[in-house]
Amino acid sequence: MTSLEIEGGVPLRGEVAVSAAKNAALPILAASLLTEEPIHIENLPRLADVRTISRLLQGLGTEITEADGGAVVRTPRLTGHEAPYELVSTMRASVLVLGPLLARSGRARVALPGGCAIGVRPIDLHLKGLERLGAEITLRNGYVEARARRLVGTRISFDLVTVTGTENLMMAAALAEGTTLLENAAREPEVADLAHLLIAMGAKIEGAGSERVEIQGVSGLGGARHRIIPDRIEAGTFLVAGAITGGEVTLRGAIPDHLTAVLAKLEEAGAAVQSGEDRVRVRGPERPRPADVITNPYPGLATDMQAQFMALLGLADGTSVITETIFENRFMHAAELRRLGASIETEGNRAVVRGVRGYQGAPVMATDLRASASLVLAGLAARGVTTVSRVYHLDRGYEAMEVKLAGLGARIRRTR
Ligand code: UD1
Repeated sequence: MTSLEIEGGVPLRGEVAVSAAKNAALPILAASLLTEEPIHIENLPRLADVRTISRLLQGLGTEITEADGGAVVRTPRLTGHEAPYELVSTMRASVLVLGPLLARSGRARVALPGGCAIGVRPIDLHLKGLERLGAEITLRNGYVEARARRLVGTRISFDLVTVTGTENLMMAAALAEGTTLLENAAREPEVADLAHLLIAMGAKIEGAGSERVEIQGVSGLGGARHRIIPDRIEAGTFLVAGAITGGEVTLRGAIPDHLTAVLAKLEEAGAAVQSGEDRVRVRGPERPRPADVITNPYPGLATDMQAQFMALLGLADGTSVITETIFENRFMHAAELRRLGASIETEGNRAVVRGVRGYQGAPVMATDLRASASLVLAGLAARGVTTVSRVYHLDRGYEAMEVKLAGLGARIRRTR
């Protein structure tokens, strides 16, 4: 099995370019189902999750042609209406085809995601919302079957903030009859990015990126060209890499505004941070200071950055408390970090991290995407060699991570 071998202890230095955001690319690719005209995406990240959704779309009749680091995506005619279990079980975000399929053809069949390594993660809010828009939803043989003649706009207030739920309903409502109001919507930049594409396609959407989104349905959508926003989680991960190794790393092509909570937490942990228009530079502290972390929906600190901060704070000069409010069971990395010498106790959704002076290299196993990133970060700071196995988790969401890290001076290589 493929793993990453890291010889730690090198302070990272230099510049690194941020790739296009995975969590924007996935809904944007799904949105291409809403029209028969081509969508030109200027920058698609090369990620396993992007390949998974591409395979899913191709099964539905979508033609995807790679072009200049991006792709032209076109679905002249839907030839299917199903997201099979085989794909949904490897990537939950496959449920993003539900809204567009229903809106375009009045019909969708999507496997229920079921449990995953970081918790139960139901899609009840997606389904409730679609029912409010007039869809008939049946659960049969592990699949959601949805049907609708034409969806009709209405007011939907989410019980919980859900990112892909907001995106699914925004896409469905774009072709509904009348106006839909989404309340307690997710404010993540990826939601706003999807809205920008939909607006370029002819949708009428106001307020995306705020908690209240108004969508006036239109009868058809057309082609568009779009450039995906930079990946704020990849960006945050590289900033922590700079900080944890006591180095100095500059991000190129970032949006500092999307990183406000991460930058504030890095400063609290003792790193020096400097932001420009599309650049951010971090200089690592000699030793991190302890800092408490609470994950929250955007603009709060992302749950997708929690594991990386745990790796950093594990080396702090004192004790930090990390509270995970979005997903239960998202501390699988704690046990692996302990193998590197970290002192972390978890109870429920809280982790008490007692900083140690250093990590020692060890073989560790990745359990999910961001957990893998935290192990790589700890490995970069550790004395000796760390081998991170099950790298396929990392490849789901980081483009050429070891190549980018090696460009910053890390001693890291992929083994077969
Ligand atoms: C998205 C991101 C993921 C990130 C997460 C939280 C994508 C492709 N993935 O996932 O990287 O970690 O947001 O920022 O954008 N919930 C329900 N019922 C639902 C939907 C969600 O109870 O119908 C709960 C979830 O279990 C979780 C919380 O709501 O506790 C937030 O989940 P959600 O925002 O939906 O996560 P995703 O959209 O799946």
